[in-house]
Amino acid sequence: MKKMPLARVQYAQTATKWIATLALAGLSVGSAWADSKGPMVPTLPKYQAECAACHIAYPAGMLPAPSWKRIMGSLDKHYGTDASLDEASVREISQWLQVNAGTTKRVREEPPQDRITTSAWFVRKHDEVDPAIWKQAAVKSAANCIACHTRADKGSFSEREITFPKGLDARFRRNWSD
Ligand code: HEC
Ligand code: HEC
Repeated sequence: MKKMPLARVQYAQTATKWIATLALAGLSVGSAWADSKGPMVPTLPKYQAECAACHIAYPAGMLPAPSWKRIMGSLDKHYGTDASLDEASVREISQWLQVNAGTTKRVREEPPQDRITTSAWFVRKHDEVDPAIWKQAAVKSAANCIACHTRADKGSFSEREITFPKGLDARFRRNWSD
């Protein structure tokens, strides 16, 4: 990287601080645009109806197409439970998931057990979360996004919307960075 003249570096730092301050005040840059557009909500009503009964409707873009295909092809043995659906619903949801599956470089890799929570990017994004937290009753599992991401059900995972899980033992506050 080319070295910036000192004055520019200072300017850049000031600008960064300003953006951080605005974000803290809830006035994050571009929020008006994001709000008017709405968060990335899963748009298929059938998916919302059938796949958000036991957990949130996970964003289609968080798994690659082959993972969704395997998940939809084995709903009778779904992570230790039976999530079977009628054939027409399976077909409709599968097609939608195939079209909306993740294609970015970080999501393209098929994670172990076709889980979002075992994806390399997920593990990296959560490397500061004490692994003991996932197993606490207040959280239940890493798959229970909404315990911490207050708008996960709307498909929104922004850092501003992360909360310390309700009912989680205060000793975990120590290394909780929010
Ligand atoms: C009867 C309840 C139930 C229904 C209905 C259900 N699931 Fe699940 N799902 C589960 C359970 C239980 C897990 C495992 C959660 C855990 O590990 O904590 C799971 C996990 C998942 C995971 C992996 C989460 C992760 O990253 O660890 C995905 C993806 C998923 N479900 C997709 C779907 C889709 C798609 C549908 C709709 C076709 C669906 N689920 C319907 C109960 C259900
Ligand atoms: C125990 C609380 C907890 C649970 C449960 C949890 N997360 Fe997180 N997540 C966090 C924290 C804390 C961060 C921020 C880490 C940081 O700032 O370094 C984070 C960061 C993220 C980020 C990155 C946000 C950004 O702007 O960089 C994404 C995306 C994300 N989580 C998705 C998920 C999904 C999807 C699930 C469920 C499958 C989930 N998380 C479950 C606590 C949690």
